[in-house]
Amino acid sequence: MNVGDRHYRTIWLNEDGWSVDIIDQRRLPHEFRVETVRDTTEIATAIRDMWVRGAPLIGVAAAYGMALQMRADPSDASLDEAWEKLHETRPTAINLRWALDAMRAHLKPLPESERAAAAFARAAEIADEDVELNRSIGRNGLEIIREIAARKKPGEPVNILTHCNAGWLATVDYGTATAPIYLAAEAGIPVHVYVDETRPRNQGAFLTAWELAGHGVPHTLIVDNAGGHLMQRGAVDMVIVGTDRTTARGDVCNKIGTYLKALAAHDNGVPFYVALPSPTIDWTVSDGIAEIPIEERSGDEVSLVAGMDAEGAMRQVRISPEATPAANPAFDVTPARLVTGLITERGVAKASAEGLAALFPDRAR
Ligand code: MRU
Repeated sequence: MNVGDRHYRTIWLNEDGWSVDIIDQRRLPHEFRVETVRDTTEIATAIRDMWVRGAPLIGVAAAYGMALQMRADPSDASLDEAWEKLHETRPTAINLRWALDAMRAHLKPLPESERAAAAFARAAEIADEDVELNRSIGRNGLEIIREIAARKKPGEPVNILTHCNAGWLATVDYGTATAPIYLAAEAGIPVHVYVDETRPRNQGAFLTAWELAGHGVPHTLIVDNAGGHLMQRGAVDMVIVGTDRTTARGDVCNKIGTYLKALAAHDNGVPFYVALPSPTIDWTVSDGIAEIPIEERSGDEVSLVAGMDAEGAMRQVRISPEATPAANPAFDVTPARLVTGLITERGVAKASAEGLAALFPDRAR
């Protein structure tokens, strides 16, 4: 998508032909900065410390991490070591393991002399595939927005609530939850987005709001607790969120707070959609609550809030007593029964084992 009048992806190969450029998401919305990463350890840090984040982008970053490792040492031991190092960075988003497995399966049969070039080529393919998947999700989700728009008065916007950032910054381009929104706006359908701030890391306030503002999509930032109230008042026509891992029976793991939005949507008859590319489906797990590992992040992310002060300097301030411990589970699981539909690249699936298997008979077990 565009930043100013220039098109960017979130990750690309540097002009030197081997190091990897990323948009450093820690500084947005206040500063747009590109960082260059040059080895697997740096990529691992960028993923763990959320310079890049969002399930699809984490997967692509990890694929490039494997490529950098192959450039340094293409041996079998080095391949396995990179897989481990990158895999342990973030436990919940399944795209990470999917991309690492895809890279290892592609590289292992090759002679060592061919591995580096093949790894960079495969990482680039995974990045391009992500863009295509998101475009298709956008087209499929657009039809749902179009149907809702057709039931509204002419010119009245379709009000969409989203949580966290499942926008182009969470992917290589377009985004998952935002792809239908961008396509609807392009098609001239009036849309308005309620953006959950998404404490504690504020991906909504920092990233989704920045993206939507940059593309002229009308939106309003709300605190995480406002969604239920707005739904009761009829101010929300639909919810679209992303996901970090969806199980074979359609349970949806996503940023902490998603479950509460799904409960409120269910109680108020608001359709609750989840947009996801198929690499986000973990066909090996069924019960999301019991089987998906939930990342526990530092309590400092809850106790300290970052932002820009009046002089334009980035500052962190403490909002709770120093002696108060904070817990920070980063994701939660929304059971399939609360999900209206899963918007995938192949179409919209019912959130059930049968629904997903009907769209992906080649993948379901
Ligand atoms: O912790 P993050 O910022 O990597 O988490 C990302 C999310 O949870 C997003 O909400 C998104 O839906 C999943 S990736 C498209």
